[in-house]
Amino acid sequence: MRWSERQRAMLREMGIPPFWPVEPETAAVMATEAVAAPVPAPVPSEPIKPKQPIAVAQVLDALPQARRPDGVESMDWPALREAVAHCRACDLCGSRTQTVFGVGHIEAQWMIVGEAPGEQEDKQGEPFVGRAGQLLDRMLAALDLTRAESTADKQVYIANVLKCRPPANRNPLPPEVAQCEPYLLRQMALVQPRVVLAMGRFAVQSLLKTSEAIGRLRGKVHEVQGVPVIVTYHPAYLLRNPADKALVWDDLCLAREVWAQRGAQSSR
Ligand code: URA
Repeated sequence: MRWSERQRAMLREMGIPPFWPVEPETAAVMATEAVAAPVPAPVPSEPIKPKQPIAVAQVLDALPQARRPDGVESMDWPALREAVAHCRACDLCGSRTQTVFGVGHIEAQWMIVGEAPGEQEDKQGEPFVGRAGQLLDRMLAALDLTRAESTADKQVYIANVLKCRPPANRNPLPPEVAQCEPYLLRQMALVQPRVVLAMGRFAVQSLLKTSEAIGRLRGKVHEVQGVPVIVTYHPAYLLRNPADKALVWDDLCLAREVWAQRGAQSSR
């Protein structure tokens, strides 16, 4: 198998040894490369808008009156954090250790959206701190990004679709996703990122309102609330399917290209 420079750069940056046989020439190049070469990024297409524009108000309308988080559409960060911490709108509140709100710079240029807290996240109160999170951190590092809150250049904010751990890490249920959606959309509205990376089926379904497979949504620029959204596989999926890391690297490059273009258009 002949690997492209982009694939080799991705593997190097993510600290991943070759996971299938490579031809001797590629192996030799990989062994001697000390510095990552510039990685060519695909040219983004025009943003694809979801069939219906997604607004917090619309998402709230879909919830029964008694379960609407009151005033969420105008909450500031402290109010939103409080609302999430005390949320008892669905059954997940009964089994959680704590809610997992989000982490990173609150005016970040990149927003990463995952699925739901797992065991470690539920214990520590921070998204993506388990094995999938370690892989996510390496992916971000490959782009020179960190989740640290204190970055001067406002790098990354990470949040999940669900703020509470589903028991035994089962998949989120549609009513749970619907219930938590206003919180995620408000987080997005407050962060105002230049680009959103939707990781995995549940992030994609929640943000883009589609049941289309990730494989068919990748490689395009989608849009939610005027913000470009790039679709990619979840890091937990990559732990099980490491050969697809090269695809995710392509998605990260596309996100970076969109981010750079948006930077050229605005001061953020
Ligand atoms: N998977 C997610 O989607 N989110 C987390 O916070 C941890 C694992």
